[in-house]
Amino acid sequence: MMLNNEIKAAGIIGTGSYMPETVLTNSYFEERLDTNDEWIVSRTGIKERRKAEESVATSDIATYAALKAIEDANLNPEDLDMIIVATVTPDMSFPSTACIVQKNIGAINASAFDISAACSGFIYGLSIAEKFIKTGSAKYILVIGAETLSKITDYSDRNTCVLFGDGAGAAVVSSVEENNGILASYTGSDGRGGDLLKLPAGGSRMPASMETLANRLHYTKMDGSEVFKFAIKIMGEAAEKALEMCGLDKKDIDYLIPHQANIRIIESATKRLKIPKDKVFVNIDKYGNMSAASIAVALDEANKANKLSKGDVVVLVGFGGGLTWGSIVLRWA
Ligand code: UT7
Repeated sequence: MMLNNEIKAAGIIGTGSYMPETVLTNSYFEERLDTNDEWIVSRTGIKERRKAEESVATSDIATYAALKAIEDANLNPEDLDMIIVATVTPDMSFPSTACIVQKNIGAINASAFDISAACSGFIYGLSIAEKFIKTGSAKYILVIGAETLSKITDYSDRNTCVLFGDGAGAAVVSSVEENNGILASYTGSDGRGGDLLKLPAGGSRMPASMETLANRLHYTKMDGSEVFKFAIKIMGEAAEKALEMCGLDKKDIDYLIPHQANIRIIESATKRLKIPKDKVFVNIDKYGNMSAASIAVALDEANKANKLSKGDVVVLVGFGGGLTWGSIVLRWA
């Protein structure tokens, strides 16, 4: 790879997404648990979510989203220099899900790796891609946010199971005209909050055993109200920080694409940033929280629905387990 100092800007030149067909509506949970549609809709905004078939893994849905993004960018898989997959539900610890996608799509010239930043993963991935493009170290990078959260969700735990869904989104990052594309990217972490949202067993701290299985420790555990408080604070802060980095203000935002964890969190960020509701993309009602896939899918849906116009200032903002957070300010090219 050669360094090319002429490259001043990196932006998104294609997007794609894929959603599994099976829909779990709130009535599915009403029939099985002590919960109801009214509670779920009023506390979260979620009406339904998607669930991958038993035989389907994260790399499968990531592959479908990847092919769509590559087509949208008018590229061939061999054009890619790098594939980054953000996920907390990799097919397995290794090889990486990115390497499996690389094989599936025949991206023979790409290096491939996964990143683990939970729901902020797609933002982290875009931020990494931006740096490789701007240094001239890569020409085309595919960033994917993909999850099959149904595989790590305890369907007997009403505190978590109504929230999560499966899906995949992807974007191709490449050089764009100066003053376009990613104007600023900001990422942050606070590992002290790691226990608030985690998958305790199956790693090196607590390897899989009969005991961990019996105690249901291979499922997501979350302190919902603590994560909620953190989210309310960090969403606005993170967006403002990235805007400040590129000399813009919240009044400059044309479109906001927030992480889809809870409609009340989205509304709070909307209020703080003083954005009209029709300038905020929401699909949580259809898909629930898809962790790293949420912003990726939302970006593709906003793009395909022609919500983003050339020159628009678009802000992506998210937060998640780690704890992690991040935001990106884009001038849509
Ligand atoms: O992607 C990043 C990670 N995740 C998040 O961002 C999630 C952040 N947190 C949240 O979105 C919210 O905290 C939740 C939606 C998880 C919970 O909403 P809440 O308004 O914070 O409710 P709560 O946790 O304070 O619970 C209120 C009550 C509890 O009952 P008691 O103890 O007051 O009797 C819960 O047991 O609601 C109960 N509850 C439910 N009731 C019916 C919890 N889940 C359910 C449910 N159906 N599914």
